[in-house]
Amino acid sequence: MFGHVSGSLLIAASIATDHLMTFRGKFADSLVVEQLDKLSLSFLVDDLEIRRGGVAANICFGLGTLGLAPVLVGAVGEDFGDYRSWLERHGVNCDHVHVSETKHTARFVCTTDETMAQFASFYPGAMSEARLIELAPIVRSVGDPTFVLIGADDPDGMLRHTEECRQRGYAFIADPSQQLAFGSGELIRDLVDGASILFSNEYESHLIESKTGWSAEEVLARVGTQVTTLGADGVRISRKGEDPITVLACKNVTAVEPTGVGDAFRAAFLAATTWGLGLERSAQVGCTLAAYVVETVGTQEYSFTGQEFLTRFSENYGADAAAEVAPFLS
Ligand SMILES: Nc1ncnc2c1ncn2[C@@H]1O[C@H](COP(=O)(O)OP(=O)(O)OP(=O)(O)O)[C@@H](O)[C@H]1O
Ligand SMILES: [Mg+2]
Repeated sequence: MFGHVSGSLLIAASIATDHLMTFRGKFADSLVVEQLDKLSLSFLVDDLEIRRGGVAANICFGLGTLGLAPVLVGAVGEDFGDYRSWLERHGVNCDHVHVSETKHTARFVCTTDETMAQFASFYPGAMSEARLIELAPIVRSVGDPTFVLIGADDPDGMLRHTEECRQRGYAFIADPSQQLAFGSGELIRDLVDGASILFSNEYESHLIESKTGWSAEEVLARVGTQVTTLGADGVRISRKGEDPITVLACKNVTAVEPTGVGDAFRAAFLAATTWGLGLERSAQVGCTLAAYVVETVGTQEYSFTGQEFLTRFSENYGADAAAEVAPFLS
């Protein structure tokens, strides 16, 4: 679809970390119902895990792992140093990330007790400054984009990036995911209309229809290609006037933690289309990378050699298909 064009790949979406703690007791045991107006509690936790995340960072990590050099577009705080080094070590261009002078990088903080009850907070922080980012100066520096992916982020930022793409004629990919639950029909129509590719999972595809008021056919008429992931059932690719293509998910996957599968699928699907592979092959590459994420805790903790990836791909989709992918994984 974007085959053999060697432009830049701009990935604009959230950049965040998750701080996850575990409390070996029950929150409920400490809550005094008559005293809720004076609530003040502290829980001694014995485990803190800091996970790298954010949609843009996850997708860039996947593209970088597959040998591409994506450009991360998003807003962070002064605390981004370690995360920046990590992404750069994995091939991500972080030169154009906006660094807030006053706010920290977006952070999700969650404590879970032994009954799986949770106290969680999301601090958007620097993310709200994504609306200050203009794409044109980035493009001047990195070269004309093959595409700009616009994923879940500060809604005003998403809207601004989408409008700038339309104005300047950059091909854009709509991946509104989590923002679908919060966005108005008008916002979602603006984010989707005219996209080269629309990504969502199946639940979100229904949300897009109900919020925009467009039928499935009307959505399809407004985008080039619609890619709908179906969890363990794989993925469906639809184009107006053509029969849909379905690709099965990888077999023999031990599901450990699914967070980030959608992002990994997108990264590998887009890597493959950039290599010039067709839609079916690209979806198979997407499913293969997603399988690695399902099997690991965290969204950027997988690793493999090119040969390991190819072997897995071949076991699922056959040697002929693998031969098409092989030249790009050496
Ligand atoms: N249990 C599984 N076994 C194998 N592959 C899976 C499994 N779950 C997901 N996948 C792969 O990941 C892709 C994306 O999954 P899914 O549709 O669940 O994304 P999602 O709902 O956007 O997930 P998230 O938002 O949590 O990242 C699927 O197309 C499939 O290839
Ligand atoms: Mg998702």
